[in-house]
Amino acid sequence: MKNIADHLFDILENSVKAGANKVLVKFSFNKKKFFCQIIDSGPGIESADVIDPFVTSRQTRRVGLGLPLLKKTADDTQGYLKINRLNKKGGTNLEFLINMSHIDAKPFGDLTRVFIDALIAWPQMNLKLMTQNNSTFNTIIDSEKIKEDLGEEALYSSQIQNYIYKTIKKELITKGIDDHFSIEGKK
Ligand SMILES: Nc1ncnc2c1ncn2[C@@H]1O[C@H](COP(=O)(O)OP(=O)(O)OP(=O)(O)O)[C@@H](O)[C@H]1O
Ligand SMILES: [Mg+2]
Repeated sequence: MKNIADHLFDILENSVKAGANKVLVKFSFNKKKFFCQIIDSGPGIESADVIDPFVTSRQTRRVGLGLPLLKKTADDTQGYLKINRLNKKGGTNLEFLINMSHIDAKPFGDLTRVFIDALIAWPQMNLKLMTQNNSTFNTIIDSEKIKEDLGEEALYSSQIQNYIYKTIKKELITKGIDDHFSIEGKK
């Protein structure tokens, strides 16, 4: 995994594979510490030990690498990965922190692209992104709301995809959570 965007895609894929139809992603970036929390509506992670690469529900190979690699990426910067079962309702709630000022920190990559790819690949999944402003989290994009307002097929429209891309990109650039590509995608 080259960058944090790759890790994010893996976590979203885990939620989809586990059958979650709602995923909430929260970002905050303060004093160069990137914090990300992901809460899904799936069945929850069964083993508390998924950080172990031999814990996987994959049928194609016997090891799952996504979470162990994310833990390493976070630990390498003296950050952390924490996996909690949510409340009684189940669901997975995981959070990680990466110190972006650490010499071993991976670049962000194109986090915005991950959201667009996820919305296109898994239109059944309701994806919500929130970012932190002072002590509160604000919603930046809520695909369930977009589908409610504009219809199920809205996410297939390139105009809507562009709108979502620009909205997220602008927000992440404002917060400093970006690899400094411009909105057009140029350096
Ligand atoms: N959101 C989730 N809900 C339920 N179970 C999960 C979730 N995320 C991970 N798991 C469980 O933890 C296991 C390990 O996840 P991990 O991402 O490390 O590996 P993987 O997805 O199996 O394989 P890879 O990431 O290498 O493709 C998964 O196989 C799955 O059983
Ligand atoms: Mg995985």
